[in-house]
Amino acid sequence: MAFKERVFSGVQPTGNLHLGNYLGAITKFVALQDQYDCIYCVVDMHAITVWQDPAELMHATREVTAAYLACGIDPTKHIVFNQSQVAGHAELAWICNCVARLGWLNRMTQFKEKVGKDRENVSVGLYDYPALMAADILVYRATHVPVGEDQKQHVELTRDIATKFNNDFGASIAAHGYGDAFFPLPEPLIQGPATRVMSLRDGAKKMSKSDPSDYSRINLTDDADAIAQKVRKAKTDPEPLPSEEKGLETRPEADNLVGIYAALNNTSKATVLGEFGGAQFSTFKSALVDLSVAKLGPIGAEMKKLVKDPVYIDGILADGSERANAIAAETMKAVKDIVGFVRR
Ligand code: TYM
Repeated sequence: MAFKERVFSGVQPTGNLHLGNYLGAITKFVALQDQYDCIYCVVDMHAITVWQDPAELMHATREVTAAYLACGIDPTKHIVFNQSQVAGHAELAWICNCVARLGWLNRMTQFKEKVGKDRENVSVGLYDYPALMAADILVYRATHVPVGEDQKQHVELTRDIATKFNNDFGASIAAHGYGDAFFPLPEPLIQGPATRVMSLRDGAKKMSKSDPSDYSRINLTDDADAIAQKVRKAKTDPEPLPSEEKGLETRPEADNLVGIYAALNNTSKATVLGEFGGAQFSTFKSALVDLSVAKLGPIGAEMKKLVKDPVYIDGILADGSERANAIAAETMKAVKDIVGFVRR
């Protein structure tokens, strides 16, 4: 069955939006707007799987919304909203819970990495997080999901849940006139030179909001001085840059900086090495500072301006939620019929 093409993705409002979020996800969100109907969510229900201070959560929700807008997402042509304003996410998550198998969730590497040895003490929500993520995507019957590399396994789990739902309820899906499949199998969109941006302090670690060292990441709200300092202090090795991509294979820090430069400049690592092959890091880092400041400076400034107007931001989220809810409510009616829930 052919499904209407639709993009869905989300970002958690947990503070410190960084270059990884920008290059791995938000720039992709922006680019997809020309080709698809897009729904971009601020996933506040995901955020509370670990403790969030309520006032900070509200602020961070508005800040992620501001980042979406500052980066160029158009909330009038597309949908921008926060997850908790659309009940369908939680409703469908329960059904996803009953379709997903315990063994599938036990294989989620992000959960294992996050909890380490503290397994008994984390929230049930953190464990169940991928089922809510599946519901986010499926409640809009989205076909494409732009994410960074670290979310690939979660999108694959979403495909498994969709497949099992379509199979388990196949007869009911057909009886209700939805053909042979109700949910599309969403495609993860993970492309380009910066799908996994690494820490500036350690090329083996992902750049992340929760890294205790602020020098490990470039935040979207960092000013020019902070960006310059962080890039100059970024870990490197003593060799000049190679001229070919193969020369980056055993040099994770160099690979990361070249990937960041390529992504910011909308080009490939090969092109960057064509220009900087043989150069010392000091030269390359100066160019990277200039490029980062030129690209991120205006975004940070616009974000800071937008968050000063919470009434405007909340208005965008309210309007987006209303339109998101109209789509989600349609899906939920159909899902209830398919599952066998009596409804009004
Ligand atoms: P979150 O909030 O951790 O990250 C938001 C997006 O940024 C990407 N990302 C990165 N990309 C490259 N390099 C990095 N170092 C890096 N760090 C983060 C993430 O891959 C993500 O695309 N579970 C999701 C949010 C979510 C979602 C969804 C996404 C909830 N429901 C449905 C897509 C569809 C998350 O925690 O992203």
